[in-house]
Amino acid sequence: MHRFFIDPDISRAKTINTDIYNSPEVFEALKDKIFACCWQFIGTTDLVKEAANCFPFTLLENYLNEPLLLTRDERGSLHCLSNVCTHRGNLVVYEPCKLSNLRCRYHGRLFQLSGKFKSMPEFKEVNNFPTPDDDLHQFRLFQWEKFLFTSLDQKFPANIFFKDMIERVSWLPLHDFHFRPDLSKEFFIDANWILYCENYLEGFHIPFVHAALNTLIDYSDYETELFFPFSSLQVGISKTGADYFDLPTSSKDYGRKIAAYYFWIFPNMMFNFYPWGLSVNLVQPLGVSKTKISFLIYVWQEEKRHAGAGGILDKVEAEDEEIVQKVQKGIRSRFYRHGRYSVTKERGTHHFHRLLSEFLS
Ligand code: FES
Ligand SMILES: [Fe+2]
Repeated sequence: MHRFFIDPDISRAKTINTDIYNSPEVFEALKDKIFACCWQFIGTTDLVKEAANCFPFTLLENYLNEPLLLTRDERGSLHCLSNVCTHRGNLVVYEPCKLSNLRCRYHGRLFQLSGKFKSMPEFKEVNNFPTPDDDLHQFRLFQWEKFLFTSLDQKFPANIFFKDMIERVSWLPLHDFHFRPDLSKEFFIDANWILYCENYLEGFHIPFVHAALNTLIDYSDYETELFFPFSSLQVGISKTGADYFDLPTSSKDYGRKIAAYYFWIFPNMMFNFYPWGLSVNLVQPLGVSKTKISFLIYVWQEEKRHAGAGGILDKVEAEDEEIVQKVQKGIRSRFYRHGRYSVTKERGTHHFHRLLSEFLS
């Protein structure tokens, strides 16, 4: 049995070995074992609104550090490419721009917006050239309405990560959700990324840590649904009766007073839907005990922004950060290795630990 084994039976299981948070080797290993083969959020199609738009970005900066390029070609098709020139490795595009071809600024290699090799000066004498290896590497793109995701690996189809979430909120008019840079934020915490996620995955701590949220959400009705293999949902039920979704009859939840849907997608993405809109939280590892969390805010109904569970996001976030940073200190102790799970309240955390365990085995 390996060091990170998690018993599938939650009533018998111990929580994950603390080496997972503390070991620099595990932190490194997770890059390829988890992050490079799962799906990651890029942003919305607005990044490349028009034909010939190019948007270079770094996937998980300071962790995976993979230079990528999003393009929209003349026919309107989107591509997610490696932003690394196949000649000697220069970055191809340096900043967002409009281009009809991609020309490397080092020795002039030319690519189409689809990444296909086009031409190269001084290469007439080169044998067996060009080959498909000279095209920019192309990655899969998954598009959900305006939201775009990519994966560095071919291993997993996107639908096993996203389909349950997509079905559950299919009635929401996502094209009317508008990104609000002014409301979006980044937080840096002194804690391992796994601690941040496992805290998110249980509502057990709400009455203890979030007094204000606890007055808005009915803790006794707070429930976790596990979607195997790669996602889960926590549903917050409104206590006040004023701040919940106006659900259509087509919704599985019709008749319930839902104040928030908290979807989690393995390993590090959270999609929190509130009656005012959506907060996408991306948990980005920076170091064994350093994590960046981006809150990307998409507003749908501005007038509802200050009501209910979605109206006190900053306060709840500060409380979560504080407790997670305390736990970070605790898990470094020589005397703590494992805990146990509440069978009724920590199923989401157990599910997450099981996934970590499987990927590490
Ligand atoms: S590195 Fe791009 S042309 Fe040489
Ligand atoms: Fe919390």
